[in-house]
Amino acid sequence: MITVGIIGFGRMGRCYLKAFQADGRYHVTYICDHNEDCRRLAQELQPDATIVEDEQLVLADSSVQVVALCTLCDARPAEIRRALAAGKHVITEKPLADTIDQEWELVDLAEKAEQRGLYCTVNMYLQNAWYHHEMRRMAESGEIGQLAIMRICHMTPGLAPGEGHEAEGPSFHDCGMHYVGLARFFSRSDFKTWHAQALRMWSWKDPWWLQVHGTMQNDIVFDITQGFVYGQLSKDQTHTSYVELIGTQGFCRMTHDFHTAVVELRGVSRTERIERPHGGKNIDILIGQMAESILSGHRHPSMPEFRCSATASDYSWRMLDDARLHDLPAIGTLDELESIRERRRNLTNGYGLLPRNNKNV
Ligand SMILES: NC(=O)c1ccc[n+]([C@@H]2O[C@H](COP(=O)([O-])OP(=O)(O)OC[C@H]3O[C@@H](n4cnc5c(N)ncnc54)[C@H](O)[C@@H]3O)[C@@H](O)[C@H]2O)c1
Repeated sequence: MITVGIIGFGRMGRCYLKAFQADGRYHVTYICDHNEDCRRLAQELQPDATIVEDEQLVLADSSVQVVALCTLCDARPAEIRRALAAGKHVITEKPLADTIDQEWELVDLAEKAEQRGLYCTVNMYLQNAWYHHEMRRMAESGEIGQLAIMRICHMTPGLAPGEGHEAEGPSFHDCGMHYVGLARFFSRSDFKTWHAQALRMWSWKDPWWLQVHGTMQNDIVFDITQGFVYGQLSKDQTHTSYVELIGTQGFCRMTHDFHTAVVELRGVSRTERIERPHGGKNIDILIGQMAESILSGHRHPSMPEFRCSATASDYSWRMLDDARLHDLPAIGTLDELESIRERRRNLTNGYGLLPRNNKNV
């Protein structure tokens, strides 16, 4: 069994525990959180683990082979440095750090650690999603001709400004960096040009919706729209999320409702429709890739690298900076925002809720 310590037992930490327990190759021996209620819940869910408040106890224990870092990104640089210095493999949440300089330092550290047989990975979960791999396969099969246009959109009534995750930046960084990473994943190229338009919804100080379009270095064009602004006060909440890859001859597209994802191909010789369970945050896949890497001594080829996360993070900060150079309107009021926060405080089933000791995350 591979021994694991989970640091940070909020929403994501609990998802990791569930995945480690289900995998069969891991034994979670430590869970750490600053918060007493989180520790109490951890003891209940993993009774044989040592539950601690101080992360240094996990990072210093040589019996722990892997750490899963699920705190916020301002805590991560020190955690990653310490874990690698102590000879541990690292699975971390994104972004890697709260400043881009530190993110690149950690990339360097991780790449050097791999030469010592230590693996690092980061939960860029969209790159482990079955529906995106199917789309890339379709796009590269010749059925759509040459890939020309990528259209990516993700809007939910999710995390409201000022609710948590402040260290991770406005929603286009906190969440949008996944979609920035996705444009690189599909095009197999880097960004060349971009123009971003954002909006300060509810007159919050930072943009909470952003749309960016531009070109990749291989001339494919893209647009990305992301915002946690989608009907926060609607009686019945929903979201919109899609990717369209449009080629010179056909296209493929994907949409999901977080339970089921549907991928469709309109190719020159085939029309295809695949409908399967969405797969959530794909943590089972990520920790499976790490287990295979550790047990075989060879990095799993699909396991997301720190470099891919730092690159997506870097570009999403630059796109946010670009939006600030243009007209940045503010619409709505802080009173509306307060009503949203109040509603979200009492929601038990919704989008991106903070866990507050809810076992059912
Ligand atoms: N990959 C994804 O799709 C995805 C989705 C959601 C969240 N995330 C990321 O996961 C991370 C955690 O998010 P979350 O929603 O679970 O947050 P959360 O606030 O629910 O949980 C964070 C927990 O960490 C604890 N904590 C913070 N610093 C600590 C420290 N130094 N030592 C011990 N405990 C500490 C807090 O008490 C809290 O319980 C964030 O970085 C977030 O961006 C990623």
